[in-house]
Amino acid sequence: MNYSNIFKSSINKLKNEGQYRNFNEIERKAGEHPNASWVKDSKKKNVIVWCSNDYLGMSQNKIVINSMINSIKRMGIGSGGTRNISGNSSSIVDLENELANLHSKEKAVVFSSGYVANESTISTLLNLLDNVVVFSDEKNHASIISGIKKSGAVKEIFKHNDLVHLEALIKKYSENKPKVIIFESIYSMDGDFGDISGISKIAKKYNALTYLDEVHAVGMYGKKGSGVSEELGLQNSIDIIQGTLGKAFGTMGGYITSSNIICDAVRSYASGYIFTTALPPALVSAACTSVCYLKNSDIERKLQQKNTMTLKTYLTKENINFIDNKSHIVPVMVNNPVKCKEISNILLNEFNHYIQPINYPTVPIGTERLRITPGPLHTEKMISDLTIALKYAFNIANKNNYSKIA
Ligand SMILES: Cc1ncc(COP(=O)(O)O)c(C=O)c1O
Repeated sequence: MNYSNIFKSSINKLKNEGQYRNFNEIERKAGEHPNASWVKDSKKKNVIVWCSNDYLGMSQNKIVINSMINSIKRMGIGSGGTRNISGNSSSIVDLENELANLHSKEKAVVFSSGYVANESTISTLLNLLDNVVVFSDEKNHASIISGIKKSGAVKEIFKHNDLVHLEALIKKYSENKPKVIIFESIYSMDGDFGDISGISKIAKKYNALTYLDEVHAVGMYGKKGSGVSEELGLQNSIDIIQGTLGKAFGTMGGYITSSNIICDAVRSYASGYIFTTALPPALVSAACTSVCYLKNSDIERKLQQKNTMTLKTYLTKENINFIDNKSHIVPVMVNNPVKCKEISNILLNEFNHYIQPINYPTVPIGTERLRITPGPLHTEKMISDLTIALKYAFNIANKNNYSKIA
């Protein structure tokens, strides 16, 4: 058996389908976000980044940077071990208190990423609930799907945001069977909102636990930046809120917030929490500073929202097709993987705008897109230039015939 040939043919399959991913090498520049360098053939070129999930530029916020530097000077770099052994730093304890307070919950548990928070918490909770049935929105993130799979629990997938379908599924099960409903507050590829109010009502009626992924909403929505559930005054209707420190908070790490007892159960049984080195204290201090900063400052959120509106106005004027949702995410639809990559290449090579194409399996085949996330530091001139570049790139790409490839 030739192992290399097997892997080669898998890669060739992706290439033939236009699904092969090339990662551009980007070097970020402290203090100059969203400007960055694109590194190619050892040469650097200045580009504007439009696809970052550092939604508010907090990774370059001076107060956050100083907090990390000071923390490194005080405590060094590494955490020294797992939470269980020697990694339970005062920084991580402070961060968990800050996060619990942010979400008005009793307790929080920090993990090394949002992915790990979802996978570990979901698999652990489902394992602890004998005979449980889990109800999961069909558009839930890969980390949620992985947590459910790992648990082996009976699962019911409801149509995206479809309350009638969810209720029809949940009704089939007896009252005393444990049930968990898992969904997201913002679905990151379409930028639409989960129906927190409707789903919590169903959960209450059928005595189900609710688990809400607020990864794309924390820092961005609500008066304190704790997410959509806060904005709607529904934090108390959700049993477990999950978030990330890696997007709007500009650092890295993930967490859940919930009651003391649920957090204690997860902390005590989740292997993705127990058997891995804790996040470094400096990173955790920076995250804590960022959370605290965005609790008290909404300038970044306001500017971000203004720039999203400006971009949508420019795109509409030029008849560029995008999903007009109410969130901060602007998906410009291309609907073909090869065309999507070509447009992205034209934007980068000819106009210095960096937007990574989004292809399968991140989105379904035929719905490929450029996912634009305008930040507070993009200017109107940048938005206007991007729109002109997009129009030009679409015109070039539209002349090609992609039908055989798609
Ligand atoms: C909905 C959702 N949940 C969880 C995650 C994982 O979060 P993290 O990037 O912190 O691992 C992502 C990542 O993009 C996501 O989109």
